[in-house]
Amino acid sequence: MIKDLNCFFIAGKRYIILCKSNNFLVDIICDYKSSVKPNKAWTPTVYSCFGKEQFWFAGHQITIQESIESYGGIIWPGATALCHFLEDNQDKINLRNKKVLELGSGTGLVSIVACILGAQVIATDLPDVLGNLRFNLSRNTQGKRLHDPQVKTLVWGEDLETNFPHSTCLFDYILAADVVYHHTFLEKLLLTLKYLCQPDTTLIWSNKFRFNTDYDFLSQFKVTFDVELQAEFADLEVKIFKAKCKKNVV
Ligand SMILES: C[S@@+](CC[C@H](N)C(=O)[O-])C[C@H]1O[C@@H](n2cnc3c(N)ncnc32)[C@H](O)[C@@H]1O
Repeated sequence: MIKDLNCFFIAGKRYIILCKSNNFLVDIICDYKSSVKPNKAWTPTVYSCFGKEQFWFAGHQITIQESIESYGGIIWPGATALCHFLEDNQDKINLRNKKVLELGSGTGLVSIVACILGAQVIATDLPDVLGNLRFNLSRNTQGKRLHDPQVKTLVWGEDLETNFPHSTCLFDYILAADVVYHHTFLEKLLLTLKYLCQPDTTLIWSNKFRFNTDYDFLSQFKVTFDVELQAEFADLEVKIFKAKCKKNVV
């Protein structure tokens, strides 16, 4: 139960911490250290309380802490649709013991569900989003997972060979929810999808289609990928695609 908000300053930056009755901050740190292996030490991101969302997926209650700091602080319709899809299609998409990377994980809902379904998950996003992502992922998968999830920085189009070398980073599935909207990184996103999808990798991309530029991206995407529409959630205006990189694309 949330009791109050604590606010403190480090190096002139304001940090707000959600407090529970019994040492919530200590709880976050212990929780994080014991379960999620980050690639660098945890530092609190600027993080304001926004709200909590409750879900029920794969037989478990999931509580997502949201924030208002960035697009990655809230749950988008593509994420909830993709979680329903993964839950309902376990016979076709069996994530158990599969290597899965999620792009633009945001609050972590999709990675949490993939982890509960048995996947070996790497959740990725911009550095500022990772604190809340780690917290949600760790909190919601303890005692429900086969593999410890990881959280890593992945800035689209940046340092891919260094941080995700092909020799060691072979993924069965790449998941992406609502990563296409009106932003200036669409070319870098496409390059990243192309880089991460090796011949045996399946991409599952869920997106709410809002703008003409979203459809332009889809056209570009189809040049590089063989694409199958898997589901449509008309009420959310979300489409879910399954895709594989075309063989002869350089
Ligand atoms: C619209 S939000 C979707 C978040 C989450 N997938 C969901 O559906 O709830 C887009 C996500 O992409 C991330 N993102 C935006 N630009 C990015 C970039 N250049 N590199 C990596 N991640 C980026 C944002 O931080 C954010 O988490």
